Amino acid sequence: MLVQSLFALAALPAIFACPQHDNHRPMKSKKRQAAPGALPPTGQDWAYEASFNWGRLNPNYTLCQTGTQQSPIVLGLNNGLSLNHIPTFTYPSSVTGNFYNWNYGPAFTVTHDGDWTTHPSFTYDNQTLYLKGWHIHAPADHSVGGDRSKAELHFVHVDSTGHEKAVLAFRLDPGNSNSTFFNQLPSMIGFNETNVQEEITLDLTPALQAVQYFNEFWTYQGSLTSPPCHEGIRWFVARQIIYTGVEQMQAILGASTYSARAEQEVWQHRINE
Ligand SMILES: *[C@@H]1O[C@H](CO)[C@@H](O)[C@H](O)[C@H]1NC(C)=O
Ligand SMILES: *[C@@H]1O[C@H](CO)[C@@H](O)[C@H](O)[C@H]1NC(C)=O
Ligand SMILES: *[C@@H]1O[C@H](CO)[C@@H](O)[C@H](O)[C@H]1NC(C)=O
Ligand SMILES: *[C@@H]1O[C@H](CO)[C@@H](O)[C@H](O)[C@H]1NC(C)=O
Ligand SMILES: [Zn+2]
Repeated sequence: MLVQSLFALAALPAIFACPQHDNHRPMKSKKRQAAPGALPPTGQDWAYEASFNWGRLNPNYTLCQTGTQQSPIVLGLNNGLSLNHIPTFTYPSSVTGNFYNWNYGPAFTVTHDGDWTTHPSFTYDNQTLYLKGWHIHAPADHSVGGDRSKAELHFVHVDSTGHEKAVLAFRLDPGNSNSTFFNQLPSMIGFNETNVQEEITLDLTPALQAVQYFNEFWTYQGSLTSPPCHEGIRWFVARQIIYTGVEQMQAILGASTYSARAEQEVWQHRINE
């Protein structure tokens, strides 16, 4: 079974990149170790530096060119803030998972025992979604009011059958004190060592606290920010920024490589509707 799953991972087509967070098996030892499931796709045929052209590279990426709800988009207070789709959170104070580098920056995949409904969750519009993992892009995908943060943290959520449905986006910038959330992380795994992972236990609530549990946010109907650019993802972008210490931001940037898609034209995104 294990051998089969590892083979299935290795055989995945090289098309996903907001990472799939599929390295969710419990580790035999908590030490930093080889991580077959965390390996970046080989033979990837696209690059963030040329995101304007993804739709022409591969027939599977047509949506990147023709989609009506592509992410990211420009946001600002001229959009107002959302009064709809208010999220409420059921995040425990301790979550175990694998810390690794998704080839573009630090990432964490929640350990999965086959039942998504045991994961940290949030609820909006009477539906509950479950945290699959988080990862960081640098610089930020979403600019707000013309300002682009140094990095953006994505909490990827799936439904009870494991399909990706929503992303919580937190903008990250350097400030005057260390962030409680980032204080918990071990030394960052660099993008030059992407085949390792380490089992850690985190309290994710400081990230939510830092943005006041999304009491002010923008929401819209969007897509994955990398090929194949699948749509049907609801984005929640916190108005508040998570501020980190200068050294913390340097560690994040030192472990990251350019991973922001060019912003897309607003079309059928129904911002805040
Ligand atoms: C498109 O995706 C399918 C299914 O994942 C895959 O079998 C096929 O090789 C892909 N085509 C190209 C040109 O990459
Ligand atoms: C949520 O459920 C309640 C009670 O069934 C219902 O009144 C309400 O309209 C639902 N809200 C949404 C957004 O579906
Ligand atoms: C933040 O933490 C680092 C070490 O982790 C420490 O060197 C630095 O002084 C701290 N900065 C502040 C502002 O507390
Ligand atoms: C990866 O980068 C870190 C930080 O720059 C460096 O200390 C480490 O030696 C590098 N590892 C490899 C395998 O190149
Ligand atoms: Zn992402």
